[in-house]
Amino acid sequence: MKSRLNSFWTVLLSVVVIYLIVKFGIPAVARQVTGLPFPLPVPGALIFIYMVLTLIAMFLLVTFDDGPLNDFLRPIKRFLRGDFSKPVRAVGIVLISAAAGWYVYDNAVPKIAAPLALRIQHPSSNFPKKMEDAQNPMANPTEDQVAAFIEQAKAGEVQFIEQVIPDFETWKEETGEEDPLLAINTPAIKKFRAELEADNVDNETAHAALMEVRLFQGRALYAMNCRPCHGDSTAGDGPMADGFKLRPINFTDNGTIETIVEGYTFWRVENGGPGLPLEATPWDSAMPEWKVSLTEEERWLIIMAEYDMAEKTPRIPEKH
Ligand code: HEC
Repeated sequence: MKSRLNSFWTVLLSVVVIYLIVKFGIPAVARQVTGLPFPLPVPGALIFIYMVLTLIAMFLLVTFDDGPLNDFLRPIKRFLRGDFSKPVRAVGIVLISAAAGWYVYDNAVPKIAAPLALRIQHPSSNFPKKMEDAQNPMANPTEDQVAAFIEQAKAGEVQFIEQVIPDFETWKEETGEEDPLLAINTPAIKKFRAELEADNVDNETAHAALMEVRLFQGRALYAMNCRPCHGDSTAGDGPMADGFKLRPINFTDNGTIETIVEGYTFWRVENGGPGLPLEATPWDSAMPEWKVSLTEEERWLIIMAEYDMAEKTPRIPEKH
């Protein structure tokens, strides 16, 4: 006779193997496919469905015919009759009863757990209403500012925030160039420099160039302060991001900075996690309180760059 595993053990082994594949195999493969730094677990409800289907399949397989059914039942009957020795039967029956008892107890006992509450992402109970209509002064240069910028550029003395000056010094040493505008050589800046040289500067060109200069500084400040958490791409995937239970926000997601007015974004950046009201719990936000270390102008510069990098526009305040 061909020696083969009794169908009871085949069924048991198959169920265990299928469970292991669903529980650990699929997440491991998903991790390879997505390239994410963490596995993607199969939801518990789906595991339950897979296992029920597996059990149905096994049931059909075993009850298909009397032969397999008897084969399947044989070890169970032998166990119950005490054919494997009486102590084995006694221990087995105690263990099975204890396991069933534990399962019922564990499901019935009242649990002390934090209530399942969804966090409110954009709480506004302590958001000062006067900020609602705030416009980003950095994104809206005045005529005077544009005129002053043209004068500065003519004299080769465009003003930059102090945080980027050391970089410009290094750049000047390395390239032998003098005009920092050359370092931000975008098309708008090129056009502006050409018009400067021809001594025929159009206000619109100057406005666009000033915006580029401001964006440049905002991006630099973002890289220095926000990138570790919010990431190069602003997708909330900076090198520190995985360390927080409440993940840094992904600004490219449609439900984040695009849905809020700019004044609100400013307030959030200003007050960080510590400034959030109770609705924003149960998880505390690691977002720093930027009013402590950045000036108002710097914060507006960053916000301008943040929206620009994420390719989003702030919500427009409703007119009351
Ligand atoms: C230590 C990590 C960390 C740093 C650094 C950090 N953030 Fe955050 N930020 C978070 C976390 C975590 C959240 C999500 C929790 C929350 O809503 O407060 C968040 C949320 C935000 C939000 C709210 C977005 C929304 O849709 O509600 C804005 C805006 C924001 N950050 C801007 C910034 C800016 C600008 C900087 C740099 C000046 C910065 N963050 C630096 C961790 C950080």
